Amino acid sequence: MEAKHDVLIVGAGLAGMRAAIEAFDAGADVALISKIHPVRSHSGAAEGGINAALGNASEDDPEKHAFDTVKGSDYLGDQDAIQVLCDEAPGDVYQLEHWGAVFSRTEDGRIAQRPFGAAGEPRTAYAADITGHVLIHVLYEQVMKRDLAVYEEWFAWKLVEDEGRCQGVICWDLLNGGLKMVGAKTVILATGGAGRLYTGTTNAYSCTGDGMAMALRMGVPLKDMEMMQFHPTTLSPSGVLITEGCRGEGAYLLNSEGERFLVRYAPNAMELASRDVISRAEQTEIDEGRAIDGNVLLDLRHLGADRIIERLHGTRELSMVFAGVDPIHEPIPVRPGAHYHMGGIDTDVDGKTVLEGLYAAGECACVSVHGANRLGGNALMETITYGKRSGRAAAEWALANTVVAPPESALTDAEQKLQALLDRTDGERPHAIRDEMAETMHENFGVFRREDQMRRQGEIVAGLLERYENVVVEDKGSVFNSDLTQALELEFLLELASCMVEAGLARRESRGAHARPYDYPNRDDESFMKHTLVTWADGRPQLTWEPVRVTKWQPQERTY
Ligand code: FUM
Repeated sequence: MEAKHDVLIVGAGLAGMRAAIEAFDAGADVALISKIHPVRSHSGAAEGGINAALGNASEDDPEKHAFDTVKGSDYLGDQDAIQVLCDEAPGDVYQLEHWGAVFSRTEDGRIAQRPFGAAGEPRTAYAADITGHVLIHVLYEQVMKRDLAVYEEWFAWKLVEDEGRCQGVICWDLLNGGLKMVGAKTVILATGGAGRLYTGTTNAYSCTGDGMAMALRMGVPLKDMEMMQFHPTTLSPSGVLITEGCRGEGAYLLNSEGERFLVRYAPNAMELASRDVISRAEQTEIDEGRAIDGNVLLDLRHLGADRIIERLHGTRELSMVFAGVDPIHEPIPVRPGAHYHMGGIDTDVDGKTVLEGLYAAGECACVSVHGANRLGGNALMETITYGKRSGRAAAEWALANTVVAPPESALTDAEQKLQALLDRTDGERPHAIRDEMAETMHENFGVFRREDQMRRQGEIVAGLLERYENVVVEDKGSVFNSDLTQALELEFLLELASCMVEAGLARRESRGAHARPYDYPNRDDESFMKHTLVTWADGRPQLTWEPVRVTKWQPQERTY
């Protein structure tokens, strides 16, 4: 075994680093594992902001934040978890400020807050349109200040379980090659999302669902996996995120006829309706022929050059570099793209999973605070608040329990499996399988879902999993073998795709991101106000259900 720690965190984005800081401050010996340098984590790509009821721009309070989040979730979010998030958010944001986060400011020097979709108050604190970038550097500074161990460019592949407890992680060392086992009293998964399941996505190439799939293989259920959020404004053709902050600042969405089409879908909130509503509206415009080359237009021109340059300079740069469009003078071509997984590893409000010693936080987890539709700005907040809570809980458990003895056989078994993959010389290259998966997920499991397409997608993914059995890694080397790690990532993704389709077929209603307008157009609270839970057995997903935790908000009709 390479080393042992009290708390070992897989993933060094915002949730992972926040967990590490908290666990260390609670007295634990902590280490982080990351397949990329921490500041290159996908959290750094977050743009628009972080939600907390600071009340700096209006009369706001955590109760209003909680209600907006419950309603936004289409009543699938667990209300106790949402309450925790909204109550702790203000203190957690001030903590970030005290650590040096340079938030944009009001005239009188307080943290500025902008309107965001489906939020009743301007609640989103921001650092221009590079909020994730700012926060990731703030947390990395805190990690460095504490001199925490970081296994950098280590690819986590398997969890190690012994005596009914998670006791470590097996990783591929990207720089030097070879599998390494790191022991731990507790492991926190904070590996982010799996947007690479789709062709059109805002997610980085690293977002391959690693933590979700590793947990699934240990018998830990994944919750609400059918709930993939499509962000309404992804840049065409690259899929790069164009922040909701644009609409928060007043941008319009137009169809090919120059019409602000949201007047027909969300007449009150218009461009600040929730993401699921706007993505469906856009997809309808596109499907009905009122689009331009498959896109609608995001028009910022009326905001004026000064405001665009001050508050949306990153958006301007992205548009110019990736689409050749300067939003000061021209509208930006956008369309819905896979952005965020509301589903993930089932945890309690301290990040604990059903496997002793295993925790999860951030996008890879499902607490569940987002239910069927996440509000923009709540993801960053979740990484901080639930990163902190899981770090503290994992440290407390680790400090009260002393023995870590992951069996060496776990490492030798993994080495044999990996060697069998590397020894294979005949078969299919992974990229063809990966492309087919991403294209068909887009086609058959996108903004709108149909029974026959989902069934077909289930068959396609099952076929791809079979083809994966013969996948060939051409690079047999040990130094930066991305051919190997991409093959391992592909297996993670295929298993998750299979879980998503299984859960999607079972949810015979329309709720949030799961829209079935052709067969089940309405939300059905009587039958489906419950979470899907998927486990993996005999090479395929198995589905059960769990009730939503309701505290004080009974379901109502959701209009914007
Ligand atoms: O549009 C955005 O800036 C994204 C924010 C989020 O997903 O929370």
